[in-house]
Formats: sequence, C-alpha cells, structure tokens
Amino acid sequence: MYYKHHVFFCLNQRDEGERVCCANAGAKDAQEHAKKRVKDLGLAGPGQVRINKAGCLDRCEEGPCVVVYPEAVWYTYVDNSDIDEIVESHLRDGKVVQRLLLDAKPKA
Ligand code: FES
Repeated sequence: MYYKHHVFFCLNQRDEGERVCCANAGAKDAQEHAKKRVKDLGLAGPGQVRINKAGCLDRCEEGPCVVVYPEAVWYTYVDNSDIDEIVESHLRDGKVVQRLLLDAKPKA
C-alpha cells in the first residue's frame, strides 16, 4: 500500500440556500489542521498518512465528513479537538474513534 491511511475531507461549498455543506461547517480549517497535526507528529508521507481534499462525498446532512481508507471508516467532527483525536487515536495508534463514527453502510 502506498499510504497506510489515505484521508479525504469533503470541502464542498454549496451555493447559498442549497443543502447543508461541509464547507459551511469548518471543513477547510479542519483539513488544514489535520494536515499540520499529521506532519507535526511525523506521520506524513508515503507509507504513512496522506490528508487530501475532496469534493462532495454525498453524506452532506451527516457532515461535515471525512473518510479514512483503506479501512473506509467514516467520521464526522465538530472542532479541532475531534480532529486531534482522529489523528492521534486512529491514524497514529490504529484505534477507531467510536464516538465520531458515521454509519459504515448506507441506510436501507
Ligand atoms: S458537502 Fe460534504 S458530503 Fe456533501
């Protein structure tokens, strides 16, 4: 595997008056914070962790959302302390952060 964890933050910005979107929930700051935190912890780069921007992941109402591959673990978050927990617990220590999980499967 090229990256141990490849992380995608939805940064989608919808037009005013449309559905909720991750950009309006602080996604840009969260993605930048995650990127910096991963770098500061020495986790960034090939064989380790890559933090990427993504367009709409189509879970807008559940967001803001982020997904970690290859595990396909989906999270939501409120602030940078949630991002720190995802980075430190999941990306560094390999422990999924249960309290921030989104459902793994689509609702039937
Ligand atoms: S705007 Fe983020 S999932 Fe759609």
